[in-house]
Amino acid sequence: MRSLIDFNSGWLFEGKDQVRLPHTAVELPFNYFDETAYQRVFTYEKRFTADPAWAGKDVSVVFDGAMANAKVSLNGSEVVAHKDGYTPFEARLTGKLKDGENVLTVTIDGSENPDIPPFGGQIDYLTYAGIYREAWLRVTAPVFVGNAKVETPDALAARKSIRARIDLANPQDLPLSGTLVAALVDGDGKTIATTDAAINGSLVDVAFDDLSGIALWDIDNPALYTLVVMIDTGVGRDEASFRFGFRTAEFTTDGFKLNGKALKLRGLNRHQSFPYVGYALGKSAQERDAEILKRELKLNMVRTSHYPQSHYFLDRCDELGLLVFEEIPGWQHIGGESWKDESVENVRRMITRDWNHPSIVIWGVRINESQDDHDFYVRTNKLAHELDPTRQTGGVRYITDSELLEDVYTMNDFILGLEEWGGNRPRTPLRPQQEVTGLDRVVPYMITEYGGHMYPTKSWDQEQRQAEHVLRHLEVMNAAYGDPQIAGCIGWCAFDYNTHKDFGSGDRICHHGVMDMFREPKFAAYAYISQCEPSDEVILKPVTFWARGERNIGGVLPLMILTNCDEVELTYGSNTPKRFTPDRKAFPHLPHAPVVIKREHLTDEELGLWGMSWEDATITGYIAGKPVKTVNFIADPIAHALEVAPDATEIGTEGDTTRVMIRALDQSGKKLPFFPEPVAIEVSGAAERLGPGIVPLRAGSTGFWLRSTGKGPITVTVSNERLGRATVTLTAS
Ligand code: GAL
Repeated sequence: MRSLIDFNSGWLFEGKDQVRLPHTAVELPFNYFDETAYQRVFTYEKRFTADPAWAGKDVSVVFDGAMANAKVSLNGSEVVAHKDGYTPFEARLTGKLKDGENVLTVTIDGSENPDIPPFGGQIDYLTYAGIYREAWLRVTAPVFVGNAKVETPDALAARKSIRARIDLANPQDLPLSGTLVAALVDGDGKTIATTDAAINGSLVDVAFDDLSGIALWDIDNPALYTLVVMIDTGVGRDEASFRFGFRTAEFTTDGFKLNGKALKLRGLNRHQSFPYVGYALGKSAQERDAEILKRELKLNMVRTSHYPQSHYFLDRCDELGLLVFEEIPGWQHIGGESWKDESVENVRRMITRDWNHPSIVIWGVRINESQDDHDFYVRTNKLAHELDPTRQTGGVRYITDSELLEDVYTMNDFILGLEEWGGNRPRTPLRPQQEVTGLDRVVPYMITEYGGHMYPTKSWDQEQRQAEHVLRHLEVMNAAYGDPQIAGCIGWCAFDYNTHKDFGSGDRICHHGVMDMFREPKFAAYAYISQCEPSDEVILKPVTFWARGERNIGGVLPLMILTNCDEVELTYGSNTPKRFTPDRKAFPHLPHAPVVIKREHLTDEELGLWGMSWEDATITGYIAGKPVKTVNFIADPIAHALEVAPDATEIGTEGDTTRVMIRALDQSGKKLPFFPEPVAIEVSGAAERLGPGIVPLRAGSTGFWLRSTGKGPITVTVSNERLGRATVTLTAS
């Protein structure tokens, strides 16, 4: 049977440092850095001893991803080259290994080589150099299971079936014969059915029919199954597993349907970047992002803007029931013929890597926001449909009247805010689809971006600006919910991200997220969060820091309360409580309209006067007449304590990571939004800190990731001159 050996440790970087993968070639400051710092060639080297037990086996090193233009040599001879920075590649070592020590050398080139998508123009994101995903040493029989495409043709039928095409890898071109056994295993690890087939070529088809008791994969119950493929070819045995789900997914002229049922898509775009280490965080951080999107932000969809992302991220989307729009690398620019050829290959690599993920419901086969290019996009669509007839294609554009070669017109509609550019245009959240497509018919249609650069908002921006940020996200969502011809909307974007000088706020950040780079929510995050059902979680988030003079002129009105409650009660000081209901007039289509308390809802007396004493307040949410959640605001916040909150207190050994959030709190336990003081972060024991040791709080918080270096206790101590010290302990085991 095959073995998959962790190949992440013991790399010599640039001839001097011992490093572990995932690895970023250049650690960057939080902002205001020179992004050309990593735009050059870097070398990694790993020495290892060939195991005599590998004799007669096929041996490869599998790299999950490296940025970019990787070239791998064994003992000085090149074994493989791979340009694409977002997909895996294999360095086959069979027949080239020496007895004893071998040297594997990988060079990567972080310069933005214009021959490789997404490069050649300006792009609004960074492509941090490094072997930034995991690597594995795979030892198999000479003939082994290469890939499999698992399809579930009649997923909605009572008795279900599977058609799988298994691709055997036979690098030595041996005569192929033998048997293949495929087992269908459920989520509990129980084998429900098996079938076998004779091997007489490299492609083997297997079928299961008449399957009963199969659960559908759905967003609330993401049931997963595994096809375990075992082969015996006379030259050895091999086994590989392919996880999949039974579901149907279709974009129609009246919206998106999952398993035949209408589902309005509510999503955000995700870049795979993190502060300081760029792309180079592994499994736990990738999984955690999916959890944040599904469980914290309560989304049902994510777009992997603008490239294929880590399989750990996608696996977690499968497990959580988070739908995915995955797309090829690119940003506005289309290069010459060989660039386009490479882009077509990107389509192939993305689809053949990811075609079994039930979470992926559409392939993006256009360069994000590029102009029409008939021949090029005929090719990308044709290939996508050939490789995967079960999924529709989209191609993200911002241009109107664009040639529709895809199945779904996927549109970045940045109309909201354009009225500020003059003219008589009224404030418009989204355009009707036919105004955008220019077509005489309705087509499957989805909004893939809005917000972003139209209203950049920092987590430490004035409350009023943040309230407007919230409002814009709500308005677009409301419009998408209200238009049956729109499958849904995916906002720009989930997390703030580092970018080139040509974009963002000049500080190398696009402050476009509903969360900051540490994944700490801004108010706008609650525009999404509050759309969940109270049975999932009761949400009550007033869009205010509760200060008399933070807004222009003063006061906190209009006060938007993002909530899924039926009613909200406000008690100001010792005044009589007053109840308010959601503003369904302004937001008729949202699952949960916010409550908006305006001046006209209050008497002159209640409005109070500038210069009077500012009071505490209590806001209580009611469902079916019962109080379900309360938020207290105090009128005199004072810096009181430091909070240190790791995502997990138990982590894996050697290289596992977890995020640790640090917050300055007032005496009531609320974050102090304008507390900017520095904190010192020390990590001791079996882990190291990623990023600097002295950092300012931004909007009252900061964060960092720690990475285990072995086994045992880990101590994190955070200190600030005024707030003292806070310590937490974790364990790597
Ligand atoms: C879009 C683009 C995104 C991002 C966004 C900023 O045009 O597709 O990648 O740049 O604008 O709002």
